[in-house]
Amino acid sequence: MSEILQKARQYEEKYSSFITPEERPAFHLSPRVGWMNDPNGFSTYKGRYHLFYQYHPYNTKWGPMHWGHAVSDDMLHWQYLPVAIAPDMPYDKDGCFSGSAIELDDGRQLLVYTGVKRERGEDGRMHDFQTQCLAVGDGLNYVKYEGNPVLTGEDVPEGFSVNDFRDPKIFRNADGSFGMVVGNRTDDGSGAILLYRSPDGFHWEFETILDRSYNEFGRMWECPDVFPLDGQDVILTSPQDMCALGLEFHSGNCTMALMGQLEKGQFLRENVQAIDYGLDFYAPQTLLSEDGRRIMIAWMQNWDTTGGCPEGAKWFGQMTTPREIAIREGRLVQNPVRELEIRHGRRVSYKNVPVHEEVSLTGVYGRMVDMTVTIKPADDKGYERFRVKFAKGSRHYCSVSYRPGTSTLRLSRTHAGFNRDFVHERKCMVRNQGGEIKLRILLDRYSAEVFVNDGEQALTTTFYTPMTADGISFECSGQALVTVEKYDIIMAE
Ligand code: FRU
Repeated sequence: MSEILQKARQYEEKYSSFITPEERPAFHLSPRVGWMNDPNGFSTYKGRYHLFYQYHPYNTKWGPMHWGHAVSDDMLHWQYLPVAIAPDMPYDKDGCFSGSAIELDDGRQLLVYTGVKRERGEDGRMHDFQTQCLAVGDGLNYVKYEGNPVLTGEDVPEGFSVNDFRDPKIFRNADGSFGMVVGNRTDDGSGAILLYRSPDGFHWEFETILDRSYNEFGRMWECPDVFPLDGQDVILTSPQDMCALGLEFHSGNCTMALMGQLEKGQFLRENVQAIDYGLDFYAPQTLLSEDGRRIMIAWMQNWDTTGGCPEGAKWFGQMTTPREIAIREGRLVQNPVRELEIRHGRRVSYKNVPVHEEVSLTGVYGRMVDMTVTIKPADDKGYERFRVKFAKGSRHYCSVSYRPGTSTLRLSRTHAGFNRDFVHERKCMVRNQGGEIKLRILLDRYSAEVFVNDGEQALTTTFYTPMTADGISFECSGQALVTVEKYDIIMAE
């Protein structure tokens, strides 16, 4: 084991012991210590879920990337394993960037990642040179492949970048060979996805340009993923520097689902949408579970809001709740994994409660909650706005508000104690059903994920208010009837 890896393992072992379980989210993965960004290698291996993550253990800021590692049987209770890989080779000395994992036929686990090497370019300036690299292991310890890097700047077509060439996602083709998609940037400065093929996972060849942006959707396309889903083919990617389009793509660093058909290595787009409409969501990655579900997890943070790290934090960055995804009427829908229902504790429910002035309902409160709220107009006059406040204390709250007039839903954490001037609200269009709407609000200690109308939209936000801010209230400009089904989430075995 290299000194760099050994040092990281010793560091995290020692300093993670200073973090109590109560200081962490209950069912969202947080870094063992220090900083976390993208999910990596989200996969099944020998019957367990493995999740690696972009990791800088030494402080709560991004730094030379390692891969943190955790395993789980239900994707909700995570057990930390030692750092899997560290930037300790000449070809990855400046970082082991994002990638993926797969089980080989011989039972070993293959990690595929981007090695980053910072060097002076021909223009005299420093540049990152990014290559695709492998590490092989047993689910705990990994050895970097002696043939690394397996894909370099030599393997990108003319007009594509050797500096922005990252985030390999590996998969298995129907004929048993391996495929890999890698993000790239073309000479026009915009994003593209390159497709590679290998007979054995070790020897790779360029196949085609799967899709490219021609400056339509942001710049570099990071973290691509591709898979079949409900009779269509889907690409997920995270474009950097994206401009807003109506109420879509407001996060700067955005996420995007492309729905269409893959034909002879070309992706024919039929539909494009943002994946999550909230504030904190980036770099999603999927796996196919053994029971056939396509499950997506993402970094529950966005580059532009990382200045919201609380003072004195011992960890920063979380993963979303894993979400089952599907296609309904041409759109990507997402809902929390069904394993969450096993964690349901005490149930409190109300049916058709008339709501006008702000009201709390007995038993409806908490910071680890799975709550479904169904709202409908009380009469044919309808209502102007319905608002649910949550994580509410004497000074703080977050809220989600629905306006049937414009059919827009707004998520806000403006009053969640942030003292930095970055955006704290997002809006999205939802299906207009004459004032009826169903919101599933999933709260953990430091986040809220809102799923609209059985997963037609999702909006995600983090916040770091005191746990005493656990109130929930309902209010309406006009008259509405609200039905509530609320469960506490109990994580103990
Ligand atoms: C996305 C990303 C990836 C890269 C990694 C570095 O958030 O920029 O493209 O591999 O983070 O940590």
